[in-house]
Amino acid sequence: METDNNQKTAVLWGGRTSNKPEEAAFAFQASIHIDKRLAQEDITGSRAHVKMLGKQGIIPPQTAAALDGELECIALELERGTLHIDENAEDIHSFIEGELTARLGTEGRMVHAGRSRNDQVALDFRLYLKNSVPCICKELDATARVLLNCAEEHLDSIMPGYTHLQRAQPVTLAHHLCAWVSGIARDLERFYDALKRLDECPLGSGALAGSGLPLDRAMTSAALGFTRPTINSMDAVADRDFALELASAAAITQTHLSRFCEDIVLWASEEFKFIDLDEAWSTGSSIMPQKKNPDFAELIRGKSARVTGNLITLFTLLKGLPYAYDKDLQEDKEALFDSLDTVSTALKNFRGMLASSRWNIERMETACSGGFLEATDAAEYLVGRGLPFRNAHEIVAHIVRECIENGLQSIAECSLDTLRRHSPLFNADIFERLHPRACVAARSLPGGPARAAVICQIAELRARLDSLNGRAVQEN
Ligand code: ARG
Repeated sequence: METDNNQKTAVLWGGRTSNKPEEAAFAFQASIHIDKRLAQEDITGSRAHVKMLGKQGIIPPQTAAALDGELECIALELERGTLHIDENAEDIHSFIEGELTARLGTEGRMVHAGRSRNDQVALDFRLYLKNSVPCICKELDATARVLLNCAEEHLDSIMPGYTHLQRAQPVTLAHHLCAWVSGIARDLERFYDALKRLDECPLGSGALAGSGLPLDRAMTSAALGFTRPTINSMDAVADRDFALELASAAAITQTHLSRFCEDIVLWASEEFKFIDLDEAWSTGSSIMPQKKNPDFAELIRGKSARVTGNLITLFTLLKGLPYAYDKDLQEDKEALFDSLDTVSTALKNFRGMLASSRWNIERMETACSGGFLEATDAAEYLVGRGLPFRNAHEIVAHIVRECIENGLQSIAECSLDTLRRHSPLFNADIFERLHPRACVAARSLPGGPARAAVICQIAELRARLDSLNGRAVQEN
């Protein structure tokens, strides 16, 4: 049989076709520019595979040792930068196998026994994610902790809470930040959950139908740190649920960041002025000399478009794909890598931007007066005195209307007589209840904005982060 003399650039399937595709066509179907990222995982997988081949007597033990040793060298050389990935290779699997064969000759040609690039790429992708997703989890955890530390400093910094972007009821900055962290804690849990289902080893599934060679799938699975081998060989090469799940976790995370950043963009405006972004985390305008723009927050918001897009890419890619492997699947990595990279840098930038910002707490407190944010509390006062809530709502609505007609800014500016005209249930103690701080203090239910309630939330969120991270240490 003829073999390509230049082992390094030979395609792995050269024996089947008499003509190599034209250069541009070859480049079109190649994936090295994306999957070169999987180089170390590819080598790790191959090392486990050759050891197993040796142990099972499929290749001579000394060949297994030689392959394993050479793979280790290639890994080190790549790491040190003394070996460069050849971008003319078809994909990372071809490059590594080509390199082995160029160095070891016939022995190199034994590495692929009982294996296909279909199970190989499924393995490499999973191994890569097992290594890289915990880094995103660390970013999420660090971000949550920065926010919780900030919350701890602002337990008494009152600010308006909004619905419909209209001032609704007073809350605190700490309460608002804990709302954000609640979302991040769920994100963290979603990533860990996806890792749990990803933790099965596809090696030994071959192209789709396994292998007639006496492979030991349990051995490679354990050696590579998986909980178990995948159940079905066709599923193992066709399945990309793990990519969908992680792309979804990434899209939800980025959507959270986008919403947080929308808050920040609003708060940084002259109209709100709740936050002063550090100059190092803002940009100017090329024409308007006075501008200090919240570009970082805007861009984090903007990048949610591509992360959501990547999720849709993956769904569209998988929809209608016949079992088992199809080359379409090669498109999976670019989308997921981009999502994970984007989320990871967005988290770093979000954290840096927030940690260097100054909060304008006087301005936030001032914004709590003047918008009748105490109205619900006035109604609840009447409910406390036995009035049905609907009546109380109506009475307070009338008081608010009257205040607006008379140019008053708050219910507290009414006299007790005026209030009593609306309801005899009002007593002098109503005025203590109308101050924004009193409104916050009254909302002391679990989950509410009162100081003690938020202290509990911070503790609960920290405990949740700890237990999620504990779980990561246990499982990885
Ligand atoms: N580059 C391919 C991918 O990323 C590897 C598997 C190729 N398999 C094949 N039969 N062409 O999916």
